[in-house]
Amino acid sequence: MEDSKSPELQSEFYLDCGFATRALHAGEHVGQPQHASHTGAIYQSSTFVFKDAAEGADIFAGQRPGYVYTRLGNPTVKVLEAKMNALEGREVKLRDPGVRVSSLAFSSGMSAISSTLLSLCSAGDTLILGDVVYGATEHLAANVLSRFGIRTVEVPTQDLDAVEKVLKANPRAKAILFETPTNPTLTLTDIAALVQLVRTHGPEMKVVVDNTFATPYLQRPLELGADVVVHSTTKYLCGHGTVVGGVMTTCHDDVKDRAYAVIKDIGGSPSPFDAWLVNLGIKTLPLRMDRHCENAMAVARHFEKHPKVARVYYPGLESSPYHQLAKRQMSKFGGMVCFDLVGGLEAGRKLMDRVRIFTLAVSLGCVDSLIQHPASMTHACVPREKREKAGLTDGLVRISVGLEDVSDLIGALDEALATV
Ligand SMILES: Cc1ncc(COP(=O)(O)O)c(C=O)c1O
Repeated sequence: MEDSKSPELQSEFYLDCGFATRALHAGEHVGQPQHASHTGAIYQSSTFVFKDAAEGADIFAGQRPGYVYTRLGNPTVKVLEAKMNALEGREVKLRDPGVRVSSLAFSSGMSAISSTLLSLCSAGDTLILGDVVYGATEHLAANVLSRFGIRTVEVPTQDLDAVEKVLKANPRAKAILFETPTNPTLTLTDIAALVQLVRTHGPEMKVVVDNTFATPYLQRPLELGADVVVHSTTKYLCGHGTVVGGVMTTCHDDVKDRAYAVIKDIGGSPSPFDAWLVNLGIKTLPLRMDRHCENAMAVARHFEKHPKVARVYYPGLESSPYHQLAKRQMSKFGGMVCFDLVGGLEAGRKLMDRVRIFTLAVSLGCVDSLIQHPASMTHACVPREKREKAGLTDGLVRISVGLEDVSDLIGALDEALATV
């Protein structure tokens, strides 16, 4: 069954299998040394040995497959990349077997995002950015890319009329990057409709979707026409809070080649051990996501009518303006829930200080539940006026709903809310 040539080729053997089978087997058991361990080996080595000078020269010149140096590629990292091809790119490959789906793993989600943008945009180019994105993505565009002559125009990507206007005004922009669902207000963008607008008005533009909140288990942007998907693997893909990492997947060879050139020289490659931990995490991704979604739905429903909660943000609720789109675009509604508390910032602080079981920490997508305050933590670097315009108020509390017994989670939140 398994081709011994490369993890990428092996992962293609699994394209006719279901998501869980691909998550477990894609990229595994290929190209192992004489001791073929069942669980993939960790090639925790900075460099690789050549049999002789001729082999070294050939591998360096790309005339023979092989590894040289871990910044440039590593067998454990390759397994992760092959898994992501199988998870994000299956439908794209099945629809058109001639398309090559490829992934590159990075040392962080921000490294994946910055390398992707640096590979797509040059000095003098315009980048279009969703108006609510992770704080560091916003900061990257405003304070780093701007210094290298890359101009950013922001747009609420959930508003397709606004997107069309911005595209018409910037037809030569090189990329549009957005999150769906967004961090933290869980706003959704219609990926397929946005792609159609881009194909009409921005022929040179690549559509980049940050799929961190949904994971490929719930949503696959490449299937909907996007060009590139990026993830912070720190979150659900790893799932255990043990790694900071990132990955990008694309169906364009030239985009992958340009991103590889950036990672090679800027050096945002992941550690083999981190890649191994993410590989392990991905094996249980479908099981974990099912439970995250189930628990999040129960929490959102319970607090929707709570007198101390002004608003619950969760696309699974019928009251969410994004519910119909979520049903179309995602297979379930995710594990993130946000509350806007009636008592504002003070109530939010009290809730976070008093709630049991939930850990007060940023990040998300861990097996256990986390709670945090975006306005003073993850999104503190976004100017207040902009935060408020995007619905990111001082009273907004973000919850990453974990895999605990849901009655315990609801009980802990009820108990803490009673005291605020
Ligand atoms: C949606 C989203 N994208 C990107 C990132 C950045 O990822 P990392 O912290 O792994 O660099 C985050 C981090 O929270 C995120 O939530």
